[in-house]
Amino acid sequence: MARWADPSSKTFIIEASGEVIGMATLYNFRYEYCEIGIKIGCKAMRGHGYATEAVELLVSYCFKNLDLKAVRGTTLAHNQRMQRVFEKCGFKQVGDDSIVSRFDNKRYAELFYERKRDS
Ligand SMILES: CC(C)(COP(=O)(O)OP(=O)(O)OC[C@H]1O[C@@H](n2cnc3c(N)ncnc32)[C@H](O)[C@@H]1OP(=O)(O)O)[C@@H](O)C(=O)NCCC(=O)NCCS
Repeated sequence: MARWADPSSKTFIIEASGEVIGMATLYNFRYEYCEIGIKIGCKAMRGHGYATEAVELLVSYCFKNLDLKAVRGTTLAHNQRMQRVFEKCGFKQVGDDSIVSRFDNKRYAELFYERKRDS
């Protein structure tokens, strides 16, 4: 929710059949790229292709409306759903690292993804 109030990011509500089911954020705008984050809040609404559709729409918005040349994303190595969403949306894995979680103080592997504009 901190990103919702951050004027340097763009946060979108995801709706399905008129109901709010999630949020997506474009943030960390840098020279010719930004990052994307997404959450489908209601677990029953996961696995229906909504995140894939939202990421496709936002990537198109970034390239066509914002004239960016790349969109990047990060996910934890155990988050296979998000990796699949990135893959379905044409993102390539471009690196990896590890972070210490502020929630449980454990170290987790994270994967970096990038989708480049075709031209
Ligand atoms: C990650 C998340 C955004 C995906 O949203 P979603 O609407 O369920 O995604 P989609 O339905 O578009 O695609 C999910 C894909 O993952 C696949 N999948 C589901 N569970 C999986 C698993 N355990 N292992 C591998 N793939 C899995 C689905 O089959 C689908 O792929 P397919 O279309 O080839 O069958 C959603 O699960 C979520 O909000 N999770 C909690 C927040 C989160 O993790 N956000 C990302 C932080 S980086």
